[in-house]
Amino acid sequence: MWALSASILGCKHAAIGEAVRRAEKAGAQYIHIDVMDGDYVDNLTFGPQLVRELGELCSLPLSLHLETNRPDRYFRLFRDTPIHAVSFQLDACPNPLHLIREIRMSGKKVGLGIGPAVGLEPLRYVLPHLDSVTVMSVEPGYGGQVFEPSVYEKLRHVRRLSEELGHPVTLCVDGGVDTDKVAPLLEAGADVLICGTSVFRGDRIEENIAALLKSGGAGRAAARED
Ligand code: DX5
Ligand code: ZN
Repeated sequence: MWALSASILGCKHAAIGEAVRRAEKAGAQYIHIDVMDGDYVDNLTFGPQLVRELGELCSLPLSLHLETNRPDRYFRLFRDTPIHAVSFQLDACPNPLHLIREIRMSGKKVGLGIGPAVGLEPLRYVLPHLDSVTVMSVEPGYGGQVFEPSVYEKLRHVRRLSEELGHPVTLCVDGGVDTDKVAPLLEAGADVLICGTSVFRGDRIEENIAALLKSGGAGRAAARED
């Protein structure tokens, strides 16, 4: 059981609406929206107006990925937009439980993103409060980067921890995921694969999504990117 989440960072930004419509029709199960602040990462991306407009033209759940410092402030900018779930980066927030509760109180699912060079030790104390964990296989900030294979070991670790704590979470992988990584990532325990470049490359959205879904076994039921 797994799901494909299309990360709009990888599409032509001048035609985001059309790209999202096509991704939905082609079988993506989530739309992943990276918010970057030019501070936590060097890049700048999307704001609340785009999210509202995407909510009007697309019926897929919209997942917000805050790659920002002060994720509490950024979350508040998006609180009233039609997002289904919010993730923020563990190393961007010294007191994550406050923000986790605030996101939950707003009725949205909550997740934590963990960069490739960030350790998993604190997760033991936070995981029971989460719906999802996003293990990042690239440093946050840009699409099209090289996949870090350390993500496999981390996925297995988070899966074991979740079982040990008796608290199931949805395991997402974000960054550098292409057709050749789908099967091994699912094997390592991933539920949701977040794909930018591999979905939108060459504007061949339909063919790209078909290839990704096929790599993971067609006809499998959708997981949730919570
Ligand atoms: C990176 C973002 C990813 C990005 C992945 O900071 O969090 O969601 O869109 O893009 P690809 O699939 O191109 O690595
Ligand atoms: Zn992301």
